[in-house]
Amino acid sequence: MSNVGRSILCKSATLAKISGFLLVLLVFFYLGERFSDGSSQQLIFFSSHQNSVNNGVTKKSTSSISLPSNLNKTNWVWPAVQRMGLVDENGVMTEDFEVGEFDLEVVENWGRENETGCLESDTKRDKVRVRVRVSKYPMCSQSMREYIPCLDNMEAIKKLNSTQKGEQFERHCPEKEKELDCLIPAPKGYRTPIRWPKSRDEVWFSNVPHTHLSMYKGGQNWITIDKDKVIHGADKYLDQIEKMVPEIAFGRRTRVALDIGCGVASFGAYLFSRNVTTLSIAPKDVHENQIQFALERGVPAMVAAFATQRLSYPSQAFDLIHCSRCTINWTRDDGILLLEVNRMLRAGGYFAWAAQPVYKHEACLREQWKEMVNLTSRLCWTLIKEEGHIAIWQKPLNNSCYLSREEGTQPALCDADDDPDSVWYIFHLLFYFL
Ligand SMILES: *[C@@H]1O[C@H](CO)[C@@H](O)[C@H](O)[C@H]1NC(C)=O
Ligand SMILES: *[C@@H]1O[C@H](CO)[C@@H](O)[C@H](O)[C@H]1NC(C)=O
Ligand SMILES: *[C@@H]1O[C@H](CO)[C@@H](O)[C@H](O)[C@H]1NC(C)=O
Ligand SMILES: *[C@@H]1O[C@H](CO)[C@@H](O)[C@H](O)[C@H]1NC(C)=O
Ligand SMILES: *[C@@H]1O[C@H](CO)[C@@H](O)[C@H](O)[C@H]1NC(C)=O
Ligand SMILES: *[C@@H]1O[C@H](CO)[C@@H](O)[C@H](O)[C@H]1NC(C)=O
Ligand SMILES: *[C@@H]1O[C@H](CO)[C@@H](O)[C@H](O)[C@H]1NC(C)=O
Repeated sequence: MSNVGRSILCKSATLAKISGFLLVLLVFFYLGERFSDGSSQQLIFFSSHQNSVNNGVTKKSTSSISLPSNLNKTNWVWPAVQRMGLVDENGVMTEDFEVGEFDLEVVENWGRENETGCLESDTKRDKVRVRVRVSKYPMCSQSMREYIPCLDNMEAIKKLNSTQKGEQFERHCPEKEKELDCLIPAPKGYRTPIRWPKSRDEVWFSNVPHTHLSMYKGGQNWITIDKDKVIHGADKYLDQIEKMVPEIAFGRRTRVALDIGCGVASFGAYLFSRNVTTLSIAPKDVHENQIQFALERGVPAMVAAFATQRLSYPSQAFDLIHCSRCTINWTRDDGILLLEVNRMLRAGGYFAWAAQPVYKHEACLREQWKEMVNLTSRLCWTLIKEEGHIAIWQKPLNNSCYLSREEGTQPALCDADDDPDSVWYIFHLLFYFL
């Protein structure tokens, strides 16, 4: 009986609300009518006043609220996203999907314990709750915080016949049944990352755990440490490259770049501001947080190593490939690694090399420089500029140089049936190019 009484009460309360709302609307209508011809800083409630009636047809207004001009744009709160759905195989958003049932309590307690949770249905008072059964993963040890399954597969690495060429930095994914089966905890002292574009210049020190990296790369004057934030800059360096070869024209002619051995990815971060999309790559080695650092800054980055296999990017993908002290021996094994650069470089693309052999005059460095010049000329690249510690080569725009090479010049041209886009796990890097 009392339930019925309450629902009637509720209804009358709703009625009162509705009439109150109507009253408020009426007042606004009156005010809108009254002041709509006033100053330019009006708030317009009814768009029909704004839009003139042409040929008897009222134009549909695109926005019903015109903001006063002095309202600060940064204070504008965007409306919440209304649509939610799944994109089906035809690329069409569908709202026709099901979310499985779940028990809120189980979700809330998730991760608090690590044994297998087995919650039988219980009968709380007279309500029967349906409970789900969830197998919980245990927590990994803190030492696994930076564990990458395909790269830290020690078992596979121990089985390698050789690590001379950096094979241990390549991918060795775990076999079935040996995959990671625990949850990686957040690092100690981890804070919500600083958002782009501010993150270009500062990241939380506690989010990038190996301080020695900052010290090491600090030699490049790209990083300074300011209390618990880290600050970097590479604008001058980019200006120098652009001045050396104006055709590089960042953001206009150079739009996609690859940075090899990226350090903390300042090159990519600053190119981003110049409308160049840069992929930063580095092996997971002693400075293993390079990629973590880059991602923390909001720069596209991947762990990848020049070792024995092609990188997993298509041919002709980059306008510019950059290597600054990336400690890769480009001339080893008849220049096979530079062939890989050549594969990924677009016709007419540039290779920028910043390294000691470019500017130092010690005998062994001079020897390395000579070898590099020799190799690149055999690859038909043109050394277009050498300044300070940077040398820039260009890949030819057409095949005329390749076709006019002397018989037997190494490295040889690729076979016609070699697919330049066959990468990772498909074919091994062979002594081919183009
Ligand atoms: C916008 O608001 C921000 C912070 O509220 C302020 O720093 C900035 O000066 C304002 N800009 C204008 C144009 O009023
Ligand atoms: C969770 O697992 C860790 C290590 O595997 C163990 O030390 C800890 O006692 C476990 N916690 C619970 C609540 O079982
Ligand atoms: C190591 O060498 C042996 C014999 O040459 C070969 O069968 C095996 O596949 C090699 N292992 C790896 C991981 O390359
Ligand atoms: C980047 O592109 C945007 C949009 O095309 C343009 O407004 C901006 O000036 C460009 N920035 C640079 C540094 O070229
Ligand atoms: C690069 O590799 C070649 C051949 O293995 C070797 O002769 C040369 O000394 C190496 N250069 C450097 C800088 O390690
Ligand atoms: C370049 O290298 C090739 C192969 O290593 C060698 O035969 C040739 O003499 C070198 N050329 C010069 C100019 O050093
Ligand atoms: C090929 O490119 C070179 C410059 O790299 C140019 O001099 C030559 O005219 C081009 N040949 C053809 C057929 O386009």
